[in-house]
Amino acid sequence: MSAAADRPIRSFVRREGRLTAGQQRALDELYPQFGVEWTGGSLDVDGLFAQSAPLVLDIGYGDGEALAEIAAAHPARHYLGVEVYRAGTGRLLRRIESGGIGNLKVLLADASELLKEGIPTASLAGLQLFFPDPWPKKRHHKRRMVQAPWLATVADRLQPGGFLHMATDWAEYAEWMLELTEAEPRLHNPHGGFAPDAGDRPGTRFERRGVRKGHAVFDLILERVTSP
Ligand SMILES: C[S@@+](CC[C@H](N)C(=O)[O-])C[C@H]1O[C@@H](n2cnc3c(N)ncnc32)[C@H](O)[C@@H]1O
Repeated sequence: MSAAADRPIRSFVRREGRLTAGQQRALDELYPQFGVEWTGGSLDVDGLFAQSAPLVLDIGYGDGEALAEIAAAHPARHYLGVEVYRAGTGRLLRRIESGGIGNLKVLLADASELLKEGIPTASLAGLQLFFPDPWPKKRHHKRRMVQAPWLATVADRLQPGGFLHMATDWAEYAEWMLELTEAEPRLHNPHGGFAPDAGDRPGTRFERRGVRKGHAVFDLILERVTSP
């Protein structure tokens, strides 16, 4: 097999140049406090926080504005955010510190790898994926986060009754998500289609960008069925 064929398909492109001194300082000083080290293998999800509480995984928080707001609004839950974007992670670390948000930790890693290797079966009370990169060109569809095997892994990692909340402003990706979720029997859609509203999701930075361009926003809120 060629080296290119060996390379995993990524849902992101690393575009970051050098970080500003402030971003680097936030990572150096605050990641040891509010970040999680993961070098592969199963993550000790019960050891992430001193107390135990239902754990929600947020994939691709961007600059973390919405995730910080969500975590602050739900103190009885724990949140773990996973991102590859270091500058955004620096900003979220500052928000955690300045807001005194004790129920949120961040992890710099490829979320697909973390979900597959690091997150144990039935360990999540919820998973949120807000405005994932839409990869609009057909030849790039394989890079989309939401794929049938990814949804099967999500269904495995959610506890019975756990939720999957996805949102996008890309209509064709929304239809793609809907079709794939309909084919995953362990994910029940109580709305039978797109959710009538965003539930308790606050507006996000990428959502605002889409809305300014005149895009409609689609939310899908599903429940992990209680049978295996
Ligand atoms: C379009 S942005 C949305 C950010 C945020 N959720 C919002 O709504 O404002 C998508 C984010 O997903 C992140 N991302 C894409 N693939 C990822 C992966 N495999 N692992 C972790 N983060 C990823 C990107 O770095 C980017 O910040």
